[in-house]
Amino acid sequence: MADSVAIEVRRYRPEEKSEPYWQRYEVPVREEWMILDALNYIKDNLDGSLSYRWACRMGVCGSCGMMVGGEPILTCASYLADHLPGPIRIEPLRGFPVVRDLVNNLDDFMDKLTAVKPWIVREQEQPLSEGEYLQTPEELDAYKQYSMCINCMLCYAACPIYELEPAFIGPAAIALAQRYNFDSRDQGAEERMDHLSRDEGIWACTFVGECSVVCPKDVDPAGAIQRYKVKAMTQWYKSMLLPWGERKR
Ligand code: FES
Repeated sequence: MADSVAIEVRRYRPEEKSEPYWQRYEVPVREEWMILDALNYIKDNLDGSLSYRWACRMGVCGSCGMMVGGEPILTCASYLADHLPGPIRIEPLRGFPVVRDLVNNLDDFMDKLTAVKPWIVREQEQPLSEGEYLQTPEELDAYKQYSMCINCMLCYAACPIYELEPAFIGPAAIALAQRYNFDSRDQGAEERMDHLSRDEGIWACTFVGECSVVCPKDVDPAGAIQRYKVKAMTQWYKSMLLPWGERKR
């Protein structure tokens, strides 16, 4: 294995230069290092001005997503040695505005996520005296896969539609809407459907499927979107064929 590797980082420092530029660093290679360790080496030893996000270092917080060699990955979960011999190119996630260096502005996602109400919606809360809302293991299994999303945004960076049509609600927000739609305690599916069945919702997805390929938690947002399309179509047919009282069943 090589002793060192060249890492090229796409820098953007608007207070100094109006355009992004590439900066090259030579970093030692350690067998156990992740890409994030190499960035931390640069920050600690070569250039303290480099900006990027990370927190948990264990693939849980979702904050260390970047483009490495053109692919969106969690940098704390990808071995440096797997990217040899280099140079290794690191850029901020594609599709989002860049605040500085490798730091994206994620406001667009946060707005879209909030709009799909990713929480349990109840028409009426049951009184505390009735205890918890219990679920069977089968009811938990119905949504568990979608609840694994860590909001890392790799799926947005991989999605060609989001880049072309920024109004698209996007994979993670739709998968998280499904997480609550399939939860036996939730009653908000209709409210979410009103929002998600718009052109910029599920119908903007052309099922490229890259979102599911890059997802580090196997959430399968592409599958979640297709299931939503089936549901929306079924509801539409019902609305055409059935009398009003039958439509909502
Ligand atoms: Fe938390 Fe990578 S640092 S997921």
